[in-house]
Amino acid sequence: MSEKIYEVPAAWAKKAHLTDAKYKKMYAASIKDPDKFWAEQGKRIDWFKPYSKVRNVSYKPGKVSIKWYEDGTTNVSYNCVDRHLATRAKQTAIIWEGDDPSESKKISYGQLYTEVCKFANVLKANGVKKGDRVTIYMPMIPEATYAMLACARIGAVHSVVFGGFSPDSIANRIEDATSEMVITADEGLRGGRKVPLKANVDAAAEKAPVKTVIVVKRTGGDVAMKDGRDVWYHEEAAKVSGHCPPAEMKAEDPLFILYTSGSTGKPKGVLHTTGGYLVYVAMTHQYVFDYHDGEIYWCTADVGWVTGHSYIVYGPLANGATTLMFEGIPTYPTISRFWDVVDKHKVNTFYTAPTAIRSLMGAGEEPVKRTKRKSLRLLGSVGEPINPEAWEWYHRVVGDDRCPIVDTWWQTETGGIMITPLPGATRLKPGSATRPFFGVKPELVDAEGKVLEGAAEGNLVIAESWPGQMRTVYGDHKRFEETYFSAYPNKYFTGDGCRRDADGYYWITGRVDDVINVSGHRMGTAEVESALVSHPMVSEAAVVGYPHDIKGQGIYAYVTLMTGEKSSEALRKELVAHVRKEIGPIASPDLIQFAPGLPKTRSGKIMRRILRKIAEDEFSALGDTSTLADPAVVDDLIANRQNKR
Ligand code: PRX
Repeated sequence: MSEKIYEVPAAWAKKAHLTDAKYKKMYAASIKDPDKFWAEQGKRIDWFKPYSKVRNVSYKPGKVSIKWYEDGTTNVSYNCVDRHLATRAKQTAIIWEGDDPSESKKISYGQLYTEVCKFANVLKANGVKKGDRVTIYMPMIPEATYAMLACARIGAVHSVVFGGFSPDSIANRIEDATSEMVITADEGLRGGRKVPLKANVDAAAEKAPVKTVIVVKRTGGDVAMKDGRDVWYHEEAAKVSGHCPPAEMKAEDPLFILYTSGSTGKPKGVLHTTGGYLVYVAMTHQYVFDYHDGEIYWCTADVGWVTGHSYIVYGPLANGATTLMFEGIPTYPTISRFWDVVDKHKVNTFYTAPTAIRSLMGAGEEPVKRTKRKSLRLLGSVGEPINPEAWEWYHRVVGDDRCPIVDTWWQTETGGIMITPLPGATRLKPGSATRPFFGVKPELVDAEGKVLEGAAEGNLVIAESWPGQMRTVYGDHKRFEETYFSAYPNKYFTGDGCRRDADGYYWITGRVDDVINVSGHRMGTAEVESALVSHPMVSEAAVVGYPHDIKGQGIYAYVTLMTGEKSSEALRKELVAHVRKEIGPIASPDLIQFAPGLPKTRSGKIMRRILRKIAEDEFSALGDTSTLADPAVVDDLIANRQNKR
């Protein structure tokens, strides 16, 4: 671990919203009297009816309930759009940069208002009512944002499904959310290649029928339209008005569901609500990115992930910012694309994932250095631990040693950033997410739940609630309690391991459960296993993560075949294709090892610890294998390991 320290640049300390002293004072206040602190912060959004209660939270086993600002009413779309019209109608809200560099456009707050209202009216005309769940499966085009804000405007609950997921994954999410409408596009466009979004929705709807599919025309590609179910967005939009009153929503009314992977079972529908979420994402966006009026802010995530929800759409727009939305990929048409876009749109803040940095690093400095990047003042990282080498490269090569890096730790469940540097206030250590954000009380606990003090390493829990916290697993509150509040009663368990150093800085060490993080995409090993065993030739499968230079973690699958079936290269390929079809390309196993048997205890439990070690090529440190039913399987696993270094 690097202990090199990067001081706050002098120019930053002068201009930033926060200094170190101010951070410490505000942080102490936020922990000492959260009600007072959050009562004040709640005012950063507009309320139709002001709240009188701030926090009403119980983490008690069997009675977990989280409410913020519960008697206030507001509307998220009003806050992200309407309230800016008086001062920012002509200011750019969204800069859209297409996959093809010749395509880009700017959408002002005035235009955003009209587009969102139209979309909302189209939803209404097609039967969507307050509380209904709407599935959104879209490419990175402005209409994805309009659709999200339109749902928020009329009180519908969106469930955005990442455009890389397969028809089966879409179908599962439609069913779980009992959603009757899907919004999609004819096709997506990424790196010059077409993505058959509408065709995927058609296949999903075979399994999980919906009443209506709204199709936005993106490429003009040929798609089938089913009579009585499918409508073209542009035809519907031509029939409706550009005004739509925002619905009055209670602070705790649901805003969206977003599915994410856990260590067991199917993905969980993480539910976020209205008031607290918006306060939290607006506040973190302002402070973490030190956002000032007029700046150009770019988060490279996809709206299909929580990063896109909170830091492309809701946080920036609540703050009246200019947010850049990029349809393409970092390597198209050239490997300089990110930096060309920075120069083209004079981007000030650039927020991306370590996996992107690591893959660009592989191509050397020249593709970066041939661009200017003079507008950049702040860099950000999210989604997985950033190794110090990648951090240093990002700082030196991309940021010309001039731009601080905010390494932001958070989760789909947390709604917004939780542990992070604050530029202007925080000295940086490459690889550390540094210190907690206001109101966040991290603790490290050992396996027995004992709270560890001072410099220590343990499991990361959060002791108090914060307004952006998820409220439940959609339709399964019991699972919510069990997943997050049962391991350590009265605390929120993150699933991450973490070290705290002598300066009180936090270093996330990665997941301690059966969740892996592949290129910043979260994946449950159980999901990949169940996809593998759904193949007729597979009898058993065990999936673990292993260190991967670019992806952070790769997917390593041990597969036992049905009696009589033979392993082959062709079958290996077939299994990869099978997983892609079942879940989507992001779940493709990197390595598959055919194994005659898996290491099991006498009670039949697979010893994953051993499988992890072998996948890491560290089989000399297997630990105790004496409890195995058949210790000999381990020798075969080692002899045929796929990750020989
Ligand atoms: O393991 C942590 C890792 O990503 C997990 C959350 O994944 P997801 O819900 O998909 O949200 C990703 C975007 C917020 C965490 O449990 N993670 C996220 N950010 C960091 C991180 N690990 C280390 N450092 C980070 N900055």
